[in-house]
Amino acid sequence: MKQKTVIITEANSGIGKAAAMKLAGEGHRVVLACRNPDRAIEAQREIGSNSLTAELDLSQRSSIHAFTDWVHRKLGGVDVVINNAADFDLSRTSRTLTNDGFETIWFTNHLAPALLTDRLMDMLVASPQGRIINISSKGLLIHPFLTVNLKDPMFNKHPYSVSKAYYQSKLAQIMHTIWLSHQLIGTMVSANCISVKNVRLDLGRYPDLPQWLKNWVFRQISG
Ligand SMILES: NC(=O)c1ccc[n+]([C@@H]2O[C@H](COP(=O)([O-])OP(=O)(O)OC[C@H]3O[C@@H](n4cnc5c(N)ncnc54)[C@H](OP(=O)(O)O)[C@@H]3O)[C@@H](O)[C@H]2O)c1
Repeated sequence: MKQKTVIITEANSGIGKAAAMKLAGEGHRVVLACRNPDRAIEAQREIGSNSLTAELDLSQRSSIHAFTDWVHRKLGGVDVVINNAADFDLSRTSRTLTNDGFETIWFTNHLAPALLTDRLMDMLVASPQGRIINISSKGLLIHPFLTVNLKDPMFNKHPYSVSKAYYQSKLAQIMHTIWLSHQLIGTMVSANCISVKNVRLDLGRYPDLPQWLKNWVFRQISG
């Protein structure tokens, strides 16, 4: 199989790291695009020589621009983008904003991967087999009537719910993937979205999550 260059957003833990280990083990060049350089380097040591690290904070527009500029300067090509990172902090009790003034979850989980993908599209289209993989969540089932509130996706006017913000961003990822796949007809690039079931989380990363929610997450995973 021809070696591909794969960008994975946040590959220092969880699903992103597992994917990075598998792809690097198969001989592909994997870019661990992470906001925390120390964690990225730690993961790179485990993943091995087919991986490299780059800084990317998806809550900052300037970081996405700097990262995609670096990719164009240094990598020479990209075959696969896996938009894995997500702001998952369900312990939030109130709305937070990014430095650019966007609601944090909406920006990090939806606008940022869309912007990142768009800024790498020229390289994906130039690849003989470009792939865009977005990550959504099976947990959307707990909000069966949820829609993306296109008039107020950042909760400027209606009351904030962190759960709705998170699942709305994951629903938007599905809708964006469908839109992208139509836009990409006639190219060699495909866009797919994976609805992830519950996968073991490092709950130590979320110290402020209420105990009932930790127990619930754990039960879902063990069940
Ligand atoms: N685990 C599940 O049960 C489950 C279920 C459904 C869907 N998913 C989805 O699967 C994907 C991977 O989740 P996971 O379980 O592997 O979780 P995880 O290990 O907690 O990974 C989430 C990653 O996103 C990163 N992140 C958060 N905010 C970021 C930002 N502003 N910029 C860059 N990175 C940021 C975190 O970075 P730091 O390392 O710096 O904190 C973390 O490494 C996510 O899209 C999640 O929504 C997971």
